[in-house]
Amino acid sequence: METLRTIARVPITVKRRVLVPTMGALHRGHLELIRIAREAAGKEGEVAASIFVNPLQFAPGGDYEKYPRPETDDEEFCRSAGVDILFRPSLDVMYAADFSIAIEENSLSTALCGKSRPGHFRGVCTVVAKLFHVLVPDAAVFGEKDFQQLAIIRRMVRDLNFQIEIIGAPTVRESDGLACSSRNQYLSATERQQAPVLRAALAEGARVAAGGERSASAIIATARKVIDMSPLARLDYLELVNADTLQPLEIVQPNSLIALAVFFGQTRLIDNIRLS
Ligand code: PAJ
Repeated sequence: METLRTIARVPITVKRRVLVPTMGALHRGHLELIRIAREAAGKEGEVAASIFVNPLQFAPGGDYEKYPRPETDDEEFCRSAGVDILFRPSLDVMYAADFSIAIEENSLSTALCGKSRPGHFRGVCTVVAKLFHVLVPDAAVFGEKDFQQLAIIRRMVRDLNFQIEIIGAPTVRESDGLACSSRNQYLSATERQQAPVLRAALAEGARVAAGGERSASAIIATARKVIDMSPLARLDYLELVNADTLQPLEIVQPNSLIALAVFFGQTRLIDNIRLS
């Protein structure tokens, strides 16, 4: 594995290159993305991963400073996962001091997490576009855990004509159903015990929908009751939306999704489930 810290050193290649962008503090979710990237790259191709905690996507006073940065462990993680190129730039490599251009998606970003995290997806789009320019991948892998992020990246690639295939990867979970996340390590022991409530609420919503309930408000109310049973959980949002537009629905349609965000103390966790 080659570790690169500057843009100039990124090798130009004729091989098929598949990129996994991350912010580090790597876990089994990221590992699955790397596995999918390896499969998509094929024997002759190469897997690139990036680790960069992107200040542009954090709110002022958010967890940018305290975001975990286990540099040595992450590097070892990538090496043993079979990453060929690890790009881990410093802040000044990615952003000039007088950096003044950003990419904004103006439709999907107004829904769900966009409402509680203004500017977040602007930061995500900008850094991902930059990583695409620097690493010139043929394909890139993003997790469905961050469903809205995946949808927005697909939109950016379409609308700005990036010649990059975007591959979605299913959510990897702990044995109790909690989606793996770098932010899970912020949780206290009691919060961690209650955190599987996100998945439980989504599963309950999906269960009543599968049983024939079509009303979004009834499905949401059922899921909400599950969240309310957890004393430490504070709901940010719980919505039933069209999975393409991310706009709220009143009646379940074939392509529906329940998405939610829940605070445990300062820690904000998200999850989602598709309704079939
Ligand atoms: P990060 O939170 O490190 O996640 C990197 C990638 O891993 C994202 O595509 C995310 O959806 C995926 N991922 C995280 N947890 C997962 C899980 N439990 N199962 C499957 N995939 C999972 O998302 C970001 O970083 C940043 O916004 C980034 C895209 C790197 C831009 O800065």
